[in-house]
Amino acid sequence: MLTDAYARRFSYLRLSVTESCNFRCSYCLPDGNDCNSRSGELNLTEIRRLVTAFAKLGTRKVRITGGEPSLRKDLTEIIATCKAVPGIEKVALTTNGYRLKRDALAWQQAGLDAVNVSVDSLDADTFHLVTGQDKLADILDGIAHARAIGIKQVKINTVLLKQHNALALPDFLTFIQQQDIALRFIELMRTGDNTGFYQRQHLSGEHIQQQLLAQGWQLNKKAKTDGPALEYSHAGYQGRIGLIMPYSKDFCADCNRLRVSSLGQLYLCLFTDSHQDMRSLLQSDDSAPLMRFLQQAVQGKAFSHQLAEDYSGSTRHLAQIGG
Ligand code: GTP
Ligand code: 5AD
Ligand code: SF4
Repeated sequence: MLTDAYARRFSYLRLSVTESCNFRCSYCLPDGNDCNSRSGELNLTEIRRLVTAFAKLGTRKVRITGGEPSLRKDLTEIIATCKAVPGIEKVALTTNGYRLKRDALAWQQAGLDAVNVSVDSLDADTFHLVTGQDKLADILDGIAHARAIGIKQVKINTVLLKQHNALALPDFLTFIQQQDIALRFIELMRTGDNTGFYQRQHLSGEHIQQQLLAQGWQLNKKAKTDGPALEYSHAGYQGRIGLIMPYSKDFCADCNRLRVSSLGQLYLCLFTDSHQDMRSLLQSDDSAPLMRFLQQAVQGKAFSHQLAEDYSGSTRHLAQIGG
């Protein structure tokens, strides 16, 4: 098992398969910034070799991220490739939902177990304003479709934005009242290029937390492997509300994940710019050199992003590293 100097075990790989995206979310690509480079993305063979080495070291779950992963024409094959690697038990996808209605069935048949979809507002105009795409209805249809075909774990990600959804908790609660969905509010993170936007829009997750507690929502017990969200339940609601609060709450002590970019670079933390290139180790079917590299590399993972030497208060562009 991949274990670091602080006895953290990494059983979860977040693999970005493209930096490219067809949405223009204001927090992610401010000022119309674009990162639509498609060159150099890992191919299916490299993905198989990468995931095989991680699986031999104990990785059991792969979450495919982006950019927008569904812009890869071979996404269905990527899912199947990851799922076929011995040891991989769960393959999950984080998507903006654009292709969910069209492709969810093919993805499920390829072995997809879970999907997280970004929905920053349930108001069509606000959604359009925030994402640059007038697609709320299609995306909600896609979510309903994914559930209807039996993808059991469907989660929604909502980035908390002071001016756009700070007052929308009642709408989101109504949405999950009759649906067994986990909806997670994510504190807006500062990236390399959204500083002004961050200052205007950042809102602490405690703002939502206080409203939930006042309305009788209760914090669920959390397993060590559960990831960063604190989850709340309420007897009157089928769905759950989660809070992901990297600023208000330091969850690094329980970190169970490593990140690989679409170019095959290893990132030990979301909040670090430093990375290590693994491309040359993906050119042969022999996993041993990559396994040795990974075992060594994780020893360099800092205990906390808030304490990391190169922590500058801002994370790298999330579209490149996949959140
Ligand atoms: P599962 O636990 O697999 O459902 O995934 P998740 O909730 O971590 O994944 P998702 O891709 O939906 O990401 C949701 C948000 O959590 C994104 O904004 C991520 O950047 C954030 N997030 C995920 N992992 C970490 C982490 O290790 N550190 C920080 N600070 N944020 C994270
Ligand atoms: N802060 C918080 N969340 C972000 N995401 C993208 N950029 C940011 C940011 N700056 C979210 C997306 C997606 C998830 C993977 O990360 O909305 O749901
Ligand atoms: Fe695309 Fe995701 Fe960034 Fe939105 S947050 S622009 S959907 S990569």
